[in-house]
Order: sequence, then structure tokens, then C-alpha cells
Amino acid sequence: MTEHLYNKYVKNMTLEEKIAQLLQLAAPFYDEPGDHSEITGPMEELGIQSETVRNAGSVLGVAGAAKMMAVQKAHLANNRLGIPLLFMADIVHGFKTIFPIPLAIGSSWNPELAKQSAEIAAREAAVSGLHVTFAPMVDLIRDPRWGRVMESTGEDPYLNGVFAKAFVQGFQGDDLAGDTSRVAACVKHFAAYGAAEGGRDYNTVDLSERQLREYYLPAYKKALDAGAEMVMTSFNIVDGVPATGNRKLLRDLLRGEWGFEGVIISDWASIKEMVAHGAAEDDKEAAFKAIRAGVDIDMMTTSYLHHLPELVDEGLVDEAWIDEAVLRILRLKEKLGLFDNPMRGADPVREKEIVYSAEHRQAARKLAEKSCVLLKNEGVLPLRGEQRVALIGPFADSGDILGWWSWTGSKETAVKLSDAMRAVTDNPDQLMVAAGSGVDSITDTQKEEALIAAAGADVIVLAVGESSHMSGEGGSRTNIRLPDAQLELIRLMKGLGKPVAIVLFNGRPLDLHGVYDQADAVLEAWFPGSEGGAALADLLYGKVNPSGRLTMSFPNSVGQVPVYYNSFSTGRPKPAVEDENRYVSKYIDSPNEPLLPFGYGLSYTTFAYEGLTLSSDTIKEDQPLEVKVRVTNTGRMSGTETVQLYVRDISGEVVRPVKELKDFRQLELAPGESSEVIFFLEEKQLRYHHSDLSLSSDRGQFQVYAGGNSRDVQTAGFRLLK
Ligand code: GLC
Repeated sequence: MTEHLYNKYVKNMTLEEKIAQLLQLAAPFYDEPGDHSEITGPMEELGIQSETVRNAGSVLGVAGAAKMMAVQKAHLANNRLGIPLLFMADIVHGFKTIFPIPLAIGSSWNPELAKQSAEIAAREAAVSGLHVTFAPMVDLIRDPRWGRVMESTGEDPYLNGVFAKAFVQGFQGDDLAGDTSRVAACVKHFAAYGAAEGGRDYNTVDLSERQLREYYLPAYKKALDAGAEMVMTSFNIVDGVPATGNRKLLRDLLRGEWGFEGVIISDWASIKEMVAHGAAEDDKEAAFKAIRAGVDIDMMTTSYLHHLPELVDEGLVDEAWIDEAVLRILRLKEKLGLFDNPMRGADPVREKEIVYSAEHRQAARKLAEKSCVLLKNEGVLPLRGEQRVALIGPFADSGDILGWWSWTGSKETAVKLSDAMRAVTDNPDQLMVAAGSGVDSITDTQKEEALIAAAGADVIVLAVGESSHMSGEGGSRTNIRLPDAQLELIRLMKGLGKPVAIVLFNGRPLDLHGVYDQADAVLEAWFPGSEGGAALADLLYGKVNPSGRLTMSFPNSVGQVPVYYNSFSTGRPKPAVEDENRYVSKYIDSPNEPLLPFGYGLSYTTFAYEGLTLSSDTIKEDQPLEVKVRVTNTGRMSGTETVQLYVRDISGEVVRPVKELKDFRQLELAPGESSEVIFFLEEKQLRYHHSDLSLSSDRGQFQVYAGGNSRDVQTAGFRLLK
């Protein structure tokens, strides 16, 4: 299906032109005087001639319809065969309209809204000249020390797969060539980047192939099954070999076993970095290993440009490898319709109407409302309009609520919590606002201002958290508590003896010492995006009932990390009722359980579960199990409950997790309303990778769990007969 491209282009291209198609340069190479483009990786002198720039295959980080059109026009004027440039960028959770970070979107448990967020991001990006987004990031995460947990949807492979599919469908739609409001998706980072030891970014990953296949690979596969056009390799090693040069991972598994025929792009400089890894003696060997593994695009280094010609001359690289890489890139350009219309959806006039539109911001607000998680509430929330409220903290009046990957977003126009609360409360002139501290500093003046603001208040709302630079790429932390200055502010406010509600702005599960124990209420806002303040004000005043549920466990302390719900029992599990036995798997200074478990979240109402029943106590391979449970809203406010279905395989050929999420439903229930939820559990959902890597289920005993989180559940058992 690419013969026509071969005959029209590849056959007529010089080796240098082919190799230039494999090069991706960052925006500064295309900047006009005065332009300031986004840099998302280490820049260094690349020694690139202008002729190479005009033969390059793609660019990352250029955005804006007029700029893209000017760059494309200049490129085509200088490209001998008229091959258009491919424009790519990180549009991870929004372009100009920034949605909540993916860890927040995951907490909505609402794939439809996730899909809509990707569709809107694509619409804004495409009209601004972009063709490909480096998203979704679907790395499984279990270590909140890692800064990039904010980019993932969490610790569960099944749920990550649900969101991976939703994001790809939103970005790409089902007609990339015909629908110029979409962009191609690039799923990342392949593979298992989230398993970095110590949660330290770019650090060693060391997993068994079984663990890789069972937990880390499923979400990438779901993204590809949904049609993702590109894959980005990860910085880390996989079984000792850097992913970017890993033939077993890329050629054998991704292309061979999974049949992926799309474009593989390195992460920023990850080809060259094989030298630093100690997996290549020099840049030339790195280029050899990457092209042999099937990496098509060299992002922001010249490993391919400077070494592939020599490797071909020496007969070490078959030019056919280069041809197939060029063809995949040209095929993507064709799929995007770029040969017929190199400007594709870029339109400076429509850009002004579409980008950051009221409709888009309303969608961002709704998703932010659904993504916030009520972690604690002892009668303080929702606020009442007549209450005198003091809003205090470094995030009370801050636009730094977009998160790390929001380079085209605008902190200046983000809706701040203080402004939004003034708009919602009955008596805005009674809303007292003070910073009280910086993110990681506090002064006597700030403390005095906070005390003055709080003096006449009935209730104190503290807006605290991490700055956006404390998470994201390169943002790993060993201490995942709030900065001391903010903990001091919390103590100072708590000391006034008034009700305290804390709103958290952060990009990771935190160690909530000094927060959870001090507050009467805690609302997790994550980085809620362009409309974050508006969403939070509606949640705080009860115009919207919180419905978010955690998709990553909050540890009691960083000493517990990694702690995740789908863990193994061990041979000496700690008994449910603790006893004096020392010789069990436990800590002498901490619980084993996280402070807040996967799936956890409160509401302003309450929900009761009853009557978990199974259609049978045995099932066969062709006979699904029907699971019923009745859920009732036992409170006084309508609310959304996420009913979660977990399973435990009591005994397997390898050990099996104590719980695994298998399905979920969201229910909107009025006060007093109840609904019977019916799940159908099939044998194929019980399959797992055995020690020989075969995927199958075993006969035997299983437990089913149903509840509003992974801890507080009803249970019943059944046997699988085979
Ligand atoms: C960064 C990130 C990757 C991003 C790429 C381009 O280093 O690892 O997620 O897409 O470079 O910005």
C-alpha cells in the first residue's frame, strides 16, 4: 500500500534526502527573529546546515496557524520533491484550553469526557497547524516520587487502557485525512517508563517480561488497537537494553507480534543517549542499533543524519531499512492528507474563533468538576453562601494551575480560585483572601496577613500544593510532603480553632502528613486546568457534588512507596486484625495499607451497597457470570457513584494480585434513589500471563468484590470450571 509512495518519492530520493526525512528538529530551527519557541529537552549545538533543515521530515513545537503556514511554505519552496513537513507537539491535556492533568482526568472515571477533551485539544491544535500530538502517555505508575505520574491515568492496567482508547479516539477520530480538525496520536513512552527505580526520572527499569506484559504493556496495546498512528520509545532500558535500540521490544514485539505498521519516533535524544546508557560505544553505534530496531524518526539529535550514510557505505545498515522508515513517514503524511493539502487544517481566521472558545472552556470546567476528589469532609463542605470565608494560601490567587505539559496554555487567563469564589458566594465583599505563604517560603508579613484575613471568618479555605514545576518531566521528589512553609501556614490557621478546608493543587499523590490530620475537609484539585478555579468554586459551594475517585494510591508516607492496590499477598500476609506476630509482612512503624486507596473518593451524599449476588457459584469458559449489586443514595444530595468491580484469582500458576479492577459503572442517583447494577464477567477477563508467557485462565476459586473503592467492598465467590 505504499508502492505509489515508493515510486513517486523514495525511488527518486538521494540517500541524504531519505535520511533527512528521519530527522525531527525543534522549533528554534524554524524561528524567525523574535520568535520564542518551546523547548522540551536538552538543546545542544547540532551542527546542522540549512539545506538539511529544508529536507527534514518533521518539526516539533511549532504552533500557530500563520507561523506553521509560513514554515511549511518556505519548506516546500526549498524541498526538491515537494515533500511537506510534519508538525508535531505535546498536546497532552489541551492546547490553549487546558484540561485537568491526565491523573485528574483519570480520577473522573469518565472516558467519554476524556475523549471529548482530546477531541477539543485536537480541534484547537489542528486549526493552529499541528498534525501529530505526543499523547496519550499511558505509562503505568506506582511511584509518586516520579514527577511524570501527573501525565498518566494511574496504577491500574485495565483503567489505563480504557482511557488510552478514549484519548486516541478523541485525538484521531475515524478519518484523519478527511477530518482536518483531528491530529494523529503518538502513544508513549514505549515501554514501562513509569517503572523507574526510586521514582527518579530516566532511571533504570528492571522488570521480568511477564511483569512487563501483564501490567505495563496492556495500555499501549489498547492505544494501538484504537488506531494510534505513532509510538514514542522511552528513555529507559527494558531488560537491560535501551528501549530505543531494543529489537526484541520494537521489531519482534511491537511490529512483529502486535503488527504495528506506523511510525516509531525516539524520545528527545534517546538514540544518542544509548552512549550514556553504556549500550553504544559512540553515536554511530547508537544510530545503528536504533535503525536496526526499527526507530523511524530521530528526535532532536543528528545520530541518523551524521552516521547512517557511513553505516550504509560500510554495509552495516541495509538501505532497505531506511527506505521502510521513510515510507512509514510518508505514509503518515499521506494519511493526514498533507500531499494534497500541506496546510491541512491551519486557518488563522478560524483559529481565532475556535481556540480557547467559551464552549471549549465550558468542557474543561465540567471535566475539572468531575476530576476533583473529595478526600475528607467532617461537616465543613459544602460552604454556605452566607458564611464569611477566608481563602488563604499560595494557590488562592494563582494561575499556576495548568500543570507541567501546558506550554501553549495561558496561566494569565486561567480562572483563579479567588475570582471564582467571589463570583459564587452571596457576599463577595466578605471573602477575605491572603497568600499566607509562598510555595516554599513564608514571611512574618504573610503570616500576619493570613491571621488578619482569618480573624473574622467563619471558615478557612486553604489553597496549598506544589508548583507546576515540582512535578512533570524531571520533577522527581524524595520528599512528597507539602513544603515546610505551607505546613507551617496550615498549623497557624488550624491554631485559630476554626473549621479548615484544604484544597490541594498537586501533580502526584502526596504524603499528607500535616494536611489530612490537620484539616476538617480536603479536596484534591490536582492541576485542574484553565477553568480550575471555576470548577472548584462550584464544588466548594455545593453547586456541584464531588465525584472523583483516585486512580493512584496516596501513601501514608514516602517510606511505603511503592504502594498500590493490585499487589500480591506474599507468603506471610499481615492479618486483617493485627496481632503480636512479628513474622508477617508488615512495618513496625506504619500500616501496610495506603492512607487513601485506589478508587477512593467521597461525596456530599452517601451511598449504600447491598445484595451482591452472583448468577452462579460456577462458570465455564462460554458462560459469563452475572454480578448484581444494589446501590442506594442514602444522603440528601444527588450524586454520582462509581461502582467498581474487582476480582481475585485465589490461586494461579503464578501469584495473582489480591484485587484487579475488571469493570465499573457510573450512576447518577437522587436522594433515596437506588439502582441495581449488573456486570457480566467473562472467562477472558480472568486470563493472565503464565510463567511461559502464555495468556490463559485457570480453573479454580475466584472472589468478586463490588464497592465504591478498592477497600470498602462486598464480596462473593465462584469457581471457574475448565
Ligand atoms: C520529552 C518527553 C516526551 C515529549 C518529548 C517532546 O523529553 O519525554 O514525553 O513528548 O520530549 O517534547
